[in-house]
Amino acid sequence: MEELDNTQEPANVPRRKVVNLILGGGLLTTVGSILAPIVNFVIPPKVQESTQTSVVAAKVGEVPLNGGKVFRFGTKPGILVHTQSDEYIAYSAICPHLECTVQYRADFKHIWCACHNGHFDLTGKNIVGPPPRPLEAFKVDLRGEDIVVSRIS
Ligand code: FES
Repeated sequence: MEELDNTQEPANVPRRKVVNLILGGGLLTTVGSILAPIVNFVIPPKVQESTQTSVVAAKVGEVPLNGGKVFRFGTKPGILVHTQSDEYIAYSAICPHLECTVQYRADFKHIWCACHNGHFDLTGKNIVGPPPRPLEAFKVDLRGEDIVVSRIS
């Protein structure tokens, strides 16, 4: 009978290293997939601020009298209101309280924030509720059938 030589490394050592590498890689992948969303939440990626200065908010006839429409102005919402006196006015639709999106309420005949019952008159002024300042005003121009809203610089 042949005796085993204990001074040599067993033949399965390279296989053991491969298995350890695979298990270590799997563990790293698991930890990374758990940490990545947490890091993204704590340190959100920077969103480039829109440099857009004007946008077609609606077509003439699209928004009824005493009606409103929330539209995209770059990465943020804007609100276009068609007043009862047949004028178009526009503001940022971001409430200055906690940044909810405001809406036009035909029954109130003014702009309203549903989050904490904030009210704004048709000049954009905060009149009731917690909003600390008026809505940011935009300029409105009619160009043919387009209602164009621009930032006031
Ligand atoms: S976020 Fe608009 S009233 Fe609070």
